[in-house]
Amino acid sequence: MPPGGVLCRTRFLSLDPYMRSQIAGRHPSGTVAPGEAMLGETVSEVLRSDAPELPAGRLVRCMGGWREYSAHAAGEARLLDEEITPPSHALSILGMTGLTAWAGMVWQAGVGEGDCVLIPAVTGAVGSAAAQFCALHGARVIGIAGSPEKCRFATESLGVEACINRRTEDIDARLGELCPTGINVYFDLIGGSLLHTACAHLANHGRIVLCGLMAEYNRSGREPGPSPGLLIARRAQVSGLVVYDYESRRSEYVRECLPLLREGRIHQREDSSRGLESAPEAFCRLMRGENFGKVVVAL
Ligand SMILES: NC(=O)c1ccc[n+]([C@@H]2O[C@H](COP(=O)([O-])OP(=O)(O)OC[C@H]3O[C@@H](n4cnc5c(N)ncnc54)[C@H](OP(=O)(O)O)[C@@H]3O)[C@@H](O)[C@H]2O)c1
Repeated sequence: MPPGGVLCRTRFLSLDPYMRSQIAGRHPSGTVAPGEAMLGETVSEVLRSDAPELPAGRLVRCMGGWREYSAHAAGEARLLDEEITPPSHALSILGMTGLTAWAGMVWQAGVGEGDCVLIPAVTGAVGSAAAQFCALHGARVIGIAGSPEKCRFATESLGVEACINRRTEDIDARLGELCPTGINVYFDLIGGSLLHTACAHLANHGRIVLCGLMAEYNRSGREPGPSPGLLIARRAQVSGLVVYDYESRRSEYVRECLPLLREGRIHQREDSSRGLESAPEAFCRLMRGENFGKVVVAL
């Protein structure tokens, strides 16, 4: 344990697609070499503390990694707000993935009434939060998901007006039916050919928030982007999103989101497995698109 630091036991581990890029050695937050512990954000319990602000027994958020125990300097662990219950929400709707959704849809795209918003992976961690935030802001939300069960959940529980099954339906044709005047906002969590399809349905002055590349993480090559000519013709605004840029606004986000959760106006489905030994398979399920909700491992 570093002097003035804490020794922690992991209670919840977040599994996220960026870990795939860390394994491939192409993520700004760090890489993982063979033999090293996988990195990852955790909610952990302080077991031993030399830091008065992080007392033993309290929960903290830290980069505990895929480990049962981790030691941190005091500045590397943040005390968990006791209002965050269950504590796993600090890794999902009140954590990084919720903040990504709010930053993308509310702060970057400025979604509001009259917008038609297209959200893929709509039952996933970022997508499900984004759909609920957009619906609360008065937008019409069209979702895309990978099974009939996910599509049903999206329309029944996430404020999504219609959900396209990406595995069985013609997305291009369905977007033509559902959004005849075009998509005003596309939250791109996927990349690949879906980005091209969504751009072809963009309304004039449409906004695209580029956030993730689920369709491309397992490939070595990259898909070429959409035609600049098309984006010019649509007067499109394209912006990239990196959630780390919003870290300083995390508490502002949590203040906005906590009452919505408490009042039951939004909710978070978690895809939870138990024990560190379940993490590799849970991570592979996430990368195959088989998760249903935010992937969390409880220890
Ligand atoms: N830029 C940032 O700062 C930032 C921060 C957080 C997350 N992200 C990105 O946001 C995206 C969503 O992350 P998340 O944590 O919320 O994951 P998630 O949505 O919970 O899980 C990923 C989902 O992607 C869907 N998917 C679509 N095409 C896929 C394909 N070809 N292969 C596998 N899955 C596919 C699957 O849902 P369906 O089967 O239902 O389609 C799968 O469940 C990721 O690209 C992630 O990297 C970016």
